Amino acid sequence: MVEEHFIPKKYTNSIDNGSFTWSSPSNIALVKYWGKKEHQIPENPSISFTLNHCKTTTKVSFSKKEDASGFSFDVFLDNEEKGDFKPKIETFFKRIEVYLPFLKDYHFKIETTNTFPHSSGIASSASGMSALALCLMSIEEEFGTEDYFDDYFIQKASFLARLGSGSACRSLEGDLVVWGKHKDIEGSSDLFGVKYPCQVHSNFKNYQDTILLVDKGEKQVSSTVGHNLMHGHPFAQERFKQANKNLSDIISILKEGDLDAFIALVESEALTLHAMMMTSMPYFILMKPNTLEIINKIWEYRKTSGSKVCFTLDAGANVHVLYPENEATSVLEFIQNELVAYCQNGQYICDVIGLGASKV
Ligand code: DP6
Repeated sequence: MVEEHFIPKKYTNSIDNGSFTWSSPSNIALVKYWGKKEHQIPENPSISFTLNHCKTTTKVSFSKKEDASGFSFDVFLDNEEKGDFKPKIETFFKRIEVYLPFLKDYHFKIETTNTFPHSSGIASSASGMSALALCLMSIEEEFGTEDYFDDYFIQKASFLARLGSGSACRSLEGDLVVWGKHKDIEGSSDLFGVKYPCQVHSNFKNYQDTILLVDKGEKQVSSTVGHNLMHGHPFAQERFKQANKNLSDIISILKEGDLDAFIALVESEALTLHAMMMTSMPYFILMKPNTLEIINKIWEYRKTSGSKVCFTLDAGANVHVLYPENEATSVLEFIQNELVAYCQNGQYICDVIGLGASKV
């Protein structure tokens, strides 16, 4: 599959206006994407759990306009106009225009809401960009094209979402998604995410993810800047090799249901991600003192209770606490008794792995 496959040759219908709404989940990576080449091509493959409750719902209304000279759109978050979202969407439209040649012919009203607080530090770009990409694909579907191949809709939606934000291409399907070419994963591609095709042990069924909101402020360093700092990073090549190996290893871990090996791999990935940030030039730290307090508490609890709870991190200070469904009650009690004290305003979000995006 190459990029050109997603360029439509011809549309068969013409439509003046309409609207579509999609709801897309957030995702949490187990093997992390950190480092990219031109055109949002990842330096290494990654795999994530799709979440079930942390979602963005986006409605895109479109109406034909007179002149097709530029992009025309308005963006609203919770019914409030958001001018500061526009540059990111403008960049997105520029990147995808060749694949959706109708973009300049219409005015778009983009109305979006998140199930999680916008300022929670939970990345809304993955769920937001995938919901927007799906709405645009629904519009394209209305136009009709002769270029359809199997999985055209979902693959192209993921392909477009990737051009908005890399990790967004893993936010369409459930419950495990791989993005990036890997020799052991059939159908995997650098261009879009694919549903994890291998066997998954029942230990991972309804896996729990409680997100501890440690710091809800704006990140000091954006992911895009962080990715770019992997260019010329002294440990970059070793890191990319390690991610490939971890993806090979996680295949048997997921198949066997080996929770101890899962814990070791997932926690190592999280700390390696932050180690890359700390060893780039310029260097930076996104963890906060309370992030470390929580990590130490989790390790202590695991040692004394024999629990299979573990943590992962995204590009921020918040901690994702991952645990099997059969420990849901005990770990939640541990979180409430011992970890909530380290969360900003005691806030946390209980989630579970989910099935992916849906049309509303
Ligand atoms: C740390 O997808 O936010 O969450 O492609 O620049 O939009 P851009 O970056 P983004 O990076 C997310 C990185 C991560 C790890 C991951 O989700 O794999």
